[in-house]
Amino acid sequence: ALVSLRQLLDHAGEHAYGLPAFNVNNLEQMRAIMMAADETDSPVIVQASAGARKYAGAPFLRHLILSAIEEWPHIPVVMHQDHGTSPAVCQRSIQLGFSSVMMDGSLKEDGKTPADYDYNVRVTREVVKMAHACGVSVEGEIGCLGSLETGMAGEEDGVGAEGVLDHSQLLTSVEEARQFVADTNVDALAIAVGTSHGAYKFTRPPTGDILAIDRIKEIHEALPNTHLVMHGSSSVPQEWLKIINENGGNIGETYGVPVEQLVEAIKHGVRKINIDTDLRLASTGAIRKFMNDYPAEFDPRKYLQASMNAMKDICVQRYEAFGSAGHA
Ligand code: G3H
Ligand code: 13P
Ligand code: NA
Ligand code: ZN
Repeated sequence: ALVSLRQLLDHAGEHAYGLPAFNVNNLEQMRAIMMAADETDSPVIVQASAGARKYAGAPFLRHLILSAIEEWPHIPVVMHQDHGTSPAVCQRSIQLGFSSVMMDGSLKEDGKTPADYDYNVRVTREVVKMAHACGVSVEGEIGCLGSLETGMAGEEDGVGAEGVLDHSQLLTSVEEARQFVADTNVDALAIAVGTSHGAYKFTRPPTGDILAIDRIKEIHEALPNTHLVMHGSSSVPQEWLKIINENGGNIGETYGVPVEQLVEAIKHGVRKINIDTDLRLASTGAIRKFMNDYPAEFDPRKYLQASMNAMKDICVQRYEAFGSAGHA
């Protein structure tokens, strides 16, 4: 059944677990996410980015998610719009039937320029008013995602700020978080604690100075009833990097957010954990390996099945580690 983000996160809060929110772009990802949820009895959050809408088309994405709900009617599913850059974008998703939207007012409408506090509050409030009138949940963001090592937002052409950010923008302040929730009444709050989108998050396994789990604790103490969201939360599995590179790929040394750190964050109020890159890496690794191992095969269903299995394994691992397994 289609449920709102608020419904799922309230349940997660009561029972002290976290939910992975997987990005979806195609049928293989959608089925991998649902088969894993079915196997582990977990509720589901799937999210569509602007890039996904561009790739698959909004109606296709919508029907992909609705098809999943039809095939697995016993699993609660949130249909979430990831990183809306304006109230108009969010309005269109509400119209399409999304049960949750993110208004990312931490950046201006170009999705690249850091915005000031007043702008962020103004656009987020506007979306909350519109969405809540329709029973739709809203995720807001305070602080800008980016690396505390380099000040860079991460992906070159992806979602995120352009140029180098300073430390105060990269680490959400407790006071701003408190004020922002009071000013906007968002259902969930994304915070910046040193993670960034994409595969290149950290040049070494992260320690507390570059992945600020302590800041999550402080924000949770100040806002015990607010559901926190972590973006850029892929773990960048070393085993998948190895498979990619052993099968003709070329991905440099890089580290993500270890699953144990995500589990720690869940203990301090993080309820939604955004994951896109890990499924991309697993999919690419599985396809590269399949192509190498079976050079005579040319039925796309064969290598796409390998991709689907690899993505499903990651989903099962995250549902189990985050504790959402058993809560569908
Ligand atoms: O928010 C970032 C997600 O990884 C989506 O990326 O815009 O390439 O689909 P995308
Ligand atoms: P990753 O790039 O770490 O998977 O993060 C995805 C994300 O935050 C989508 O909003
Ligand atoms: Na989001
Ligand atoms: Zn994100």
